[in-house]
Amino acid sequence: MLSLNTSDLTPVQIQSYLNTAIAPRPICFASTVDKDGNVNLSPFSYFNIFSVNPAICVFSPSRRVRDSTTKHTLENIKEVPECVINIVNHDIVQQTSLSSVEYAKGINEFTKCGLTPIPSQLVKPPRVAESYVQLECLVKDIYPLGDGAGAGNLVIAEVKIIHINESVLNEDGRIDQAKMDLVARLGGDLYCRITMDNLFKVAKPNTKLGLGVDMLPFHVRNSKILTGNCLGKLGNLESFPSDADIETYAQSPEIKDILDATIGDSQTRELQLHLKAQQLLAEERVMEAMMVLLIE
Ligand SMILES: Cc1cc2nc3c(=O)[nH]c(=O)nc-3n(C[C@H](O)[C@H](O)[C@H](O)COP(=O)(O)O)c2cc1C
Repeated sequence: MLSLNTSDLTPVQIQSYLNTAIAPRPICFASTVDKDGNVNLSPFSYFNIFSVNPAICVFSPSRRVRDSTTKHTLENIKEVPECVINIVNHDIVQQTSLSSVEYAKGINEFTKCGLTPIPSQLVKPPRVAESYVQLECLVKDIYPLGDGAGAGNLVIAEVKIIHINESVLNEDGRIDQAKMDLVARLGGDLYCRITMDNLFKVAKPNTKLGLGVDMLPFHVRNSKILTGNCLGKLGNLESFPSDADIETYAQSPEIKDILDATIGDSQTRELQLHLKAQQLLAEERVMEAMMVLLIE
């Protein structure tokens, strides 16, 4: 394993390693105004939600790595502590990228990028009409993380009004993840698009406390077949099945076939049972997988 001490690296190297490793990152498309009302619009992927009560988002307009100068967004927020965080969908990703060009202060990136400004209700910066979700925020604090090249500035923004385009809502009035068509930033020029075919579910951890991987039998924990994800699913079960249930399950035809075919060959039996458990886990039949693995 390559182990790097950040004190031996340049800001450019740190940026390259961390932007690539800490990915994908959601994109805050922030609109701000200066004290004269000039509008600015810029994307920031050093961004996330940090609290729901109060509703807080944080993003970081950093000092430029090149020359340590500050960005217009930061300067504007210092003058007018308000912003709108517009969430970026695939349809506007190219215009979002274009807005990150270093236009001179006072140049309105809505105009340069061909996006539509619409008035906000509470704050002075306008919203991006094309964005499905727009968050009107008051800036509570700005926390500089340094004063050298690449130093971040945490902008702590309290979300006051959430605007949601009805087209992304489902029948329950909740946001439908499939309709958001979100994009996120990775290292370099890479982005990813969130589509339903690249999503998968992970069952929420058992609220009644899962057994834990450490409670699984040795042969399961050290299986050549079962992966860490398999062990995670098994360890999330609340309790072991009863001996009677295991006994009954062992009599089911698909399991009995394995047992009958491997009489006197314990190694092959273990291998076959682990393969069966792996298949059951892939089908989310977790308790059945556990029973298969506990057959004596
Ligand atoms: C998708 C994307 C994400 C970005 N994320 C950040 C970021 O988190 N922090 C940052 O300082 N610059 C980031 N940038 C670069 C800024 O958007 C760029 O420096 C922009 O010109 C700043 O504009 P301003 O000076 O008008 O505020 C990003 C650029 C893109 C395209």
